[in-house]
Amino acid sequence: MTKERLLVTGANGQIGTVLVQALQERYGYDQIVASDIKPPAEEHAIFEKLDVLNKTQMGEVIKKYGITQVFHLAAILSAKGEQNPKMAWDINMNGLFNVLELAKEYQLRVFNPSSIAVFGTESPREQTPQYRSVHPETVYGISKVAGEYWGLYFHKKFGVDIRSVRYPGIISYQSLPGGGTTDYAVEIFHAAVKGEHYQCFLKEDARLPMMYIPDAIRATIDLMEAPEASISVRTSYNLAGVSFTPAEIAAEIQSQIPGFTVSYKPDFRQAIAETWTETIDDSLARRDWGWKPEYDLPNMARDMIKNLSKQLVSSS
Ligand code: SER
Repeated sequence: MTKERLLVTGANGQIGTVLVQALQERYGYDQIVASDIKPPAEEHAIFEKLDVLNKTQMGEVIKKYGITQVFHLAAILSAKGEQNPKMAWDINMNGLFNVLELAKEYQLRVFNPSSIAVFGTESPREQTPQYRSVHPETVYGISKVAGEYWGLYFHKKFGVDIRSVRYPGIISYQSLPGGGTTDYAVEIFHAAVKGEHYQCFLKEDARLPMMYIPDAIRATIDLMEAPEASISVRTSYNLAGVSFTPAEIAAEIQSQIPGFTVSYKPDFRQAIAETWTETIDDSLARRDWGWKPEYDLPNMARDMIKNLSKQLVSSS
């Protein structure tokens, strides 16, 4: 394990920020190279400024550090993607293509996350199955489906060890999401701990699959460490955490922070949410690499409130 050298793209993003630290704790500080298009506000890792559209530069970083695995997190999410489809397609597809070609050349293991955005209004809404359920209706979702199949192609044709999960909306206190439809589920906690009112951009009954960040990080690492022979899905594994509506998360927060208020003013993101499904069947991830989420809504809310309150105290 100590010989692995891991490169994380999009390392300043919501998941990357937390994943880099988890990987450092597991593999050692020197084994992890964080990269992003801009340097982080504070450097907590070996860092390389890297544009994923620049294959030459990515190849140089891979050579310089003797990288063996890439966690390719750099992507444009659903809401931002709808506002600039061409840019989202370009970054999501060509960035991945560069990673896959370099993975073929250097025999790298690759983590290429997909998303619940691969599902659409034609998909079964409850317990959405692994297969025959992808019908993306956003640029982000289309790029993720294409990425899943490019991954499968590189695996079958060139033996690239590609691994992927369809992340639900991710909730974290360490970092903020940027440009997604599920971002409300993080914003709502920030408002609550600051004693502010929250105006939600989704309708109160928009139920979506979500996951607390410790579960998402554990899923990522467990999948990447699973024996090759156990991986039966090379497109992307369905992955479930907890599903809830804005009204349900608001009620949970109110039970812990009495007096917190929420109103609803849906915008264009509601239309995106309506194309996604509500609950996910992740039985293949459970069977193949032992996946099991740990956090339900009350536990997640308790932990979010505790950690955000601590941050607020230390920054004041
Ligand atoms: N959190 C993502 C988004 O809202 C879904 O994968 O775009």
